[in-house]
Amino acid sequence: MTSTVGIDALGVAVPSTCVRLEDLAVARNVEPAKFLQGLGTRVMGVALPDEDTVTLAARAAHEALQSAGVRGDEVGLLAVGTETAVDHSKPVASYVQGLVGIGSNCRVFETKHACYGGTAALQLALDWIRSGSARGRKALVICSDIARYGVGTPGEPTQGAGAVAILLGEAPRLVALEPGVSGVYSQDVHDFWRPLYSKDALVDGHYSVKCYLDALEGAWRNYRELVAEVPPAGSFFSDRFAALAYHVPYGKLARKGHQRLRELDGDPTPDTSFARLVEPGLVLPSLVGNIYTGSLYLSLTSLLACHPGSLEGQRVGLFSYGSGSCAEFFGGTVQPGAHARVRALGLMERLEARRVLGIPEYEAIMRERELIDERPAGAATETGAFGYLGVEQERRTYARRGAA
Ligand code: CAA
Repeated sequence: MTSTVGIDALGVAVPSTCVRLEDLAVARNVEPAKFLQGLGTRVMGVALPDEDTVTLAARAAHEALQSAGVRGDEVGLLAVGTETAVDHSKPVASYVQGLVGIGSNCRVFETKHACYGGTAALQLALDWIRSGSARGRKALVICSDIARYGVGTPGEPTQGAGAVAILLGEAPRLVALEPGVSGVYSQDVHDFWRPLYSKDALVDGHYSVKCYLDALEGAWRNYRELVAEVPPAGSFFSDRFAALAYHVPYGKLARKGHQRLRELDGDPTPDTSFARLVEPGLVLPSLVGNIYTGSLYLSLTSLLACHPGSLEGQRVGLFSYGSGSCAEFFGGTVQPGAHARVRALGLMERLEARRVLGIPEYEAIMRERELIDERPAGAATETGAFGYLGVEQERRTYARRGAA
């Protein structure tokens, strides 16, 4: 058995173009306040036709490895959690292995359970390291998705695109994850799904909100039973955490989730701790939108990059939700130096440098994306290295770093 295991580095990839929800609201004849305050999202990332789940995953993976100073042959497990894969058989992880140069003595696979798929891979990878099977090697778990509901649907303002790569290992430099205590809750429900024939997700929107909150309640009750701690007088159980990161389809749902969690703790004013415990984790998600599997980990990244104080040495709680459904609540301790390491990624600067699309251009991109899986291979355009080039002899092809 190994001692401390957790997140050693993070890498984040978002598209270079985005839509402001204010502009989308005007185009859809909706009060902008509904999207900005009612949902709590300001900007959503829009993937260009030469970006897909593979290119986002590869860019995030490259950044995590670079940030940690880890070589591809030091990785013994590579898993991609996604619900927007590019092939029914070949995993996104195999493309990533080739693109970023992960060695061959490595388990490579894809996991799926809606937005929970990345967490499933992360928990499995943590157990692989804790069991001793990793023999000092790292696990690279990547959450990568393009969230798509379709133009003009109620889900449209909750789209987004992006990937978060999570490098896991012993003596982690960002967050040490608590072993053995994970609150889990799952159910067979039809709240959100994507039939094999459809590129767009289907969703029973208001029911999906109920399922999220019910699953949060179940996972939180399970976590509290496992930890079995009585909070000090005058505090609530969730005060054992200095910050909380939730799955964020849109910020308002994280706020509702937090209220439910505090009510369960017996807090008579369940919203008052929101600004302190949750809000710093919503800064990046409110500028990117829903990125499905990576959403929780983007919120964790946001806590580390944007928290006004220091979380170092303190506990953070993490809530993962995947429709269908499976949910998990777990926690960890932020390590010394974590804030500086994550801030060095320069995420805010990258988000500010994105090109803002007008609504007609965004709609044209959405139409073009309908056909990208059959597009004949051509030259990479805007995204360069790791860009999607198209299909050649029935095979997807990509630009490699340095060869774009
Ligand atoms: N000013 C301020 N707020 C306003 C407003 C205005 N002018 N007009 C409306 N609002 C508020 C509403 O009061 C509401 O807030 P509350 O929930 O606090 O009441 C909020 O804006 C949204 O309004 P509606 O509920 O009327 O919006 P809608 O019916 O058009 O759709 C939605 C909302 C169901 C979330 C829809 O966007 C959707 O289907 N999204 C995709 C599904 C989704 O994200 N589900 C989340 C749970 S599932 C999951 O977590 C997995 C995953 O990632 C998909």
